[in-house]
Amino acid sequence: MEFKNRHLLSLKDFTKEEILKIIETSIKEKYKIEDILKGKTIGLLFQKPSTRTRISFEVAVNQLGGRSVYMNWSELQLSRKESLKDTAKVLSRYLNALVARLFKHSELLEIAEYSTIPVINGLTDLYHPCQILGDLQTIIEKKGDLKKQKIVFIGDGNNVSNSLLIASSILGLNTKLICPKGYEPPESVLNIIKNNERISNAKITITNNLSEVEDATVIYTDVWVSMGQEEETTKRIRDFAEYKVTEKLVKKAAPDYIFMHCLPRTAYEVDDEVFYGQHSVVWDQAENRLHVQKAILRLLV
Ligand code: CP
Ligand code: NVA
Repeated sequence: MEFKNRHLLSLKDFTKEEILKIIETSIKEKYKIEDILKGKTIGLLFQKPSTRTRISFEVAVNQLGGRSVYMNWSELQLSRKESLKDTAKVLSRYLNALVARLFKHSELLEIAEYSTIPVINGLTDLYHPCQILGDLQTIIEKKGDLKKQKIVFIGDGNNVSNSLLIASSILGLNTKLICPKGYEPPESVLNIIKNNERISNAKITITNNLSEVEDATVIYTDVWVSMGQEEETTKRIRDFAEYKVTEKLVKKAAPDYIFMHCLPRTAYEVDDEVFYGQHSVVWDQAENRLHVQKAILRLLV
């Protein structure tokens, strides 16, 4: 298992053993503060807003003895059409790793192609791998064996659910996406899942049927309108109206189910009673972003 100098762009590029190693490292080294990044600088290039990803990466770098440099896309020459290729080549001469949050996953791939340092996906339109690594840690800590869980994601086939489904298909988990018709994951993601399923014996279901929430041990949701989809707001709120996580809906889940949300949350997708209720683990989930990203930096940089 070799992690050093690898990119983390999608979980599809990692084996079951590698995914579990990142999570195990995160759990084991949770509160360890040390100087392994001393003298190293990690860049954070953001094209979209962020609270958790940005701050937890900055704190993670700090706790490992390194420095971080935050770069807002609009303040770099990228905003005046300097190419991704040239930017990647220059940043590779200054930095020891780059965390990037971009609109287009294809642009992240281009940056990674020309970078000689590890590039870590801090969310694109297609994937959010760091989120799901932290979430899997949360499920293990709260519920134990991942294989014994019935994980249900209610929402669209978006960056968060794509990464959850891909991780589940690699790890051999029982995971469902319940979404309105027309909001399924893209064909490229479905193909990856199908191929992995054959090897891992995972049970991945994509359905429009809300009654599939029955006996879920994990219920996960995300906003109905992701960053960059703002002009679809009216249509999405109409199309998702039935798919809100309500008190009534969660009654169908297992009695000791946990409720998860990657945050930030809006009032549309989940009732206050569920979001702030006793089954909710959303704050631990947010905290685990810090721990798992420390593990990622330890292993990759
Ligand atoms: N969950 C998550 O990535 O949150 P931020 O957008 O605040 O980084
Ligand atoms: N799907 C959401 C996740 C935010 C962390 C978005 O892309 O806006």
